Amino acid sequence: MAKPKLTFICQACGAVYTRWQGKCDACGEWNTIVEENASGGIGGGPQRGARRKGRPSALLPLSGEIEEAPRVVTGIAEFDRATGGGIVRGSAILIGGDPGIGKSTLLMQAAAALSRRGHRVVYVSGEEAVAQVRLRAQRLAAADTAVELLAETNVEDILATLAEARRPDLVIVDSIQTLWSDAAEAAPGTVTQVRTAAQLMIRFAKASGAAVILVGHVTKDGQIAGPRVVEHMVDAVLYFEGEGGHHFRILRTVKNRFGPTDEIGVFEMGGEGLREVANPSELFLGERNAKAPGAAVFAGMEGTRPVLVEIQALVAPSALGTPRRAVVGWDQPRLAMVLAVLDAHCGVRLSQHDVYLNVAGGFRISEPAADLAVAAALVSSLSGAPLPPDCVYFGEISLSGAVRPVAHAAQRLKEAEKLGFSRSVLPAASADLPKSHAMRVGEVEALPDLVAQVAGGSIPRPEEGA
Ligand code: TYD
Ligand code: MG
Repeated sequence: MAKPKLTFICQACGAVYTRWQGKCDACGEWNTIVEENASGGIGGGPQRGARRKGRPSALLPLSGEIEEAPRVVTGIAEFDRATGGGIVRGSAILIGGDPGIGKSTLLMQAAAALSRRGHRVVYVSGEEAVAQVRLRAQRLAAADTAVELLAETNVEDILATLAEARRPDLVIVDSIQTLWSDAAEAAPGTVTQVRTAAQLMIRFAKASGAAVILVGHVTKDGQIAGPRVVEHMVDAVLYFEGEGGHHFRILRTVKNRFGPTDEIGVFEMGGEGLREVANPSELFLGERNAKAPGAAVFAGMEGTRPVLVEIQALVAPSALGTPRRAVVGWDQPRLAMVLAVLDAHCGVRLSQHDVYLNVAGGFRISEPAADLAVAAALVSSLSGAPLPPDCVYFGEISLSGAVRPVAHAAQRLKEAEKLGFSRSVLPAASADLPKSHAMRVGEVEALPDLVAQVAGGSIPRPEEGA
């Protein structure tokens, strides 16, 4: 018999190496490369029986009937929004997230909601004992629903169980990292096992028409394979996120073959599980102190929905040779860029100052449209002049100091107006602005205009020197 071939696989990204090394060249993670016996698995190479001769398939034209993907809707609006309008039958969805963030809670609530609507849902728990799952179901008031529980980790046994009765509408596997298949020889939790198990579950989804949700823990230390190793195999990838110490959670779509990406669903974790947050802006603006300098409200967009958040800046003279730059909820390089533009084009010198930037409520912003709000907050903090409390900011700053228009200006303004804001500062030449607007719109063409507006005369113009 041939010696089993040993390979070294990165548990974070799945890159394969022939020998061990400390750092993965593919994803840059340390200590994630683990020796695995990668023989076997699906399509496990020539040793798996005699080669079969290929069979020709029909070639099809691009035009033809298109069927609208049939979906099952949970009725939990924030969940349905993130999945693109419901879970598509026969599709496989991966829900990733840090341990303890609330994945099992979310899925138990979704399972209960679907079950109440008459769908058959099977919850496969490989992680927790039956009693634990029941306890959670009780706490979530889901214990009286017809959700069926299966405490099993062997994929072949799970598939045999599912084949016994009527086809379920949804199968939830919590979590994919606990599954193991006879087809792979590696230990449970390794890349080979996780991939094989995921592949078998996805094949079951396609063949039976049942939707499958796979839960994947995000891992930092590489002891078990991360969800990234199955991202390419599934139809949709959602991440469940939250900031430590905050109660709200965001379900973010990063891939969806049947709907838009960049969508978010917002929830709040409470004593009886997750509660939907229909208006996230109210939550993120909840505890603002509008009179303090250094706080600017940013009118942002998350997918198709506007979200207002407060950006807080603190600028203070530094005692250190290299001043501190600390950012929570935004991009560090982006902050460096805004600081450089303020310095070069507006005479705002912050090279002797510590700069702290925080997005309130633990929210994360990835849009460049936040540049203008960040600049306003920084200048406000430096000059000690508070910004008008009823004003929102958005716009992208270019390296030349010009303020560039961003998409969805009308939607951002509408949301701000709805929440009682009456002024806005935005890029000149913004497209799609409504003609008549109750809001006072202040257009800025370049960053120095904003600085003059915020700080008045307290910061000298660049030509006067500083
Ligand atoms: P859980 O869904 O088990 O997280 P995951 O499956 O992502 O690991 O949720 C874990 C946390 O949520 C746990 O610390 C307790 C908390 N929680 C609540 O605050 N309220 C609730 O109603 C439930 C069920 C859990
Ligand atoms: Mg869990």
